[in-house]
Amino acid sequence: MTSLHVTRTLPEDATDAALRADVRRGLTSTPKTLPPKWFYDARGSELFERITELPEYYPTRAEREILLARAGEIAAATGARTLVELGSGSSEKTRHLIDALTALRVYVPVDVSESALTQAARALIEERPGLAVHALIADFTADLTLPSTPGPRLLAFLGGTIGNLLPAERAAFLASVRRLLSPGDTLLLGTDLVKDERTLVHAYDDAAGVTAEFDKNVLAVVNRELGADFDPAAFDHLAVWDARHEWIEMRLRARTAQTVKVPALDLAVDFAAGEELRTEVSAKFRKSGVMAEVAAAGLELTHWWTDTAGRFALSLSTVR
Ligand SMILES: C[S@@+](CC[C@H](N)C(=O)[O-])C[C@H]1O[C@@H](n2cnc3c(N)ncnc32)[C@H](O)[C@@H]1O
Repeated sequence: MTSLHVTRTLPEDATDAALRADVRRGLTSTPKTLPPKWFYDARGSELFERITELPEYYPTRAEREILLARAGEIAAATGARTLVELGSGSSEKTRHLIDALTALRVYVPVDVSESALTQAARALIEERPGLAVHALIADFTADLTLPSTPGPRLLAFLGGTIGNLLPAERAAFLASVRRLLSPGDTLLLGTDLVKDERTLVHAYDDAAGVTAEFDKNVLAVVNRELGADFDPAAFDHLAVWDARHEWIEMRLRARTAQTVKVPALDLAVDFAAGEELRTEVSAKFRKSGVMAEVAAAGLELTHWWTDTAGRFALSLSTVR
């Protein structure tokens, strides 16, 4: 029997309160920052899908290559009857996993982007009769409550999205993931790997300018939701490799000195000419770091797979 449930764990006013708090904190900090989760309104999710098809953006293709090669092994190692996916977006690559998980009964995609989530969930129940889909509109950095579904559970976090969290946030996040898992459950984690600077910078600053448009979309979200008057054309997109932290930063640089008003927060924000607003961190990983981070959360890494070019890794961890 095909079934679709959509649950919103955060009421809309809580989302609004979170946006207000993040924008106030971020735009009054030095340097100025905005958290990447606010990129993903309907337009942001569409732009992200276009990014995944860009010649420079290798992570999606590399992760798909691993999923295609290893889905059978993942199915055998996990025996999953429930697949929970955090930050599932279009669930495009996940279909390879869903097809291989022969014992799968329920798919629980979790995302802040309501449009991406409901579109993906509707398509999946059409394509996969017999699969129950329980979509959760939720913030995976907040305390998640999962629906009660048959175990064992496989919790997937793909796309390298874990790299958008800062190290302390990652530790808190992995600890909360561990609390969601029971013995016999597993975590499938996609991590982009450290590589040469040129490849990394181009992946976040493509020639066609799609990533620039995606980056500036956060300004459009703040304008629409909080009545701000950001002029996206008054900012330049840039991608910078931070070799010390081994992460890419996406930034928006003010072309001229300007003041941006955010009426909903009763805030006027001054930008100096050339001042940069950090909109995303995307950490790149090494195997030793991933092992240490999952171990610190009480998980044990059992499998590590990379694409043939060694650009991206998928790892499987079990509850210790
Ligand atoms: C980089 S995209 C990856 C999408 C997909 N997993 C993939 O591999 O192509 C990040 C996804 O996570 C979602 N997202 C970002 N921050 C989130 C948060 N705090 N809670 C829930 N979803 C979030 C976005 O809406 C988006 O769909």
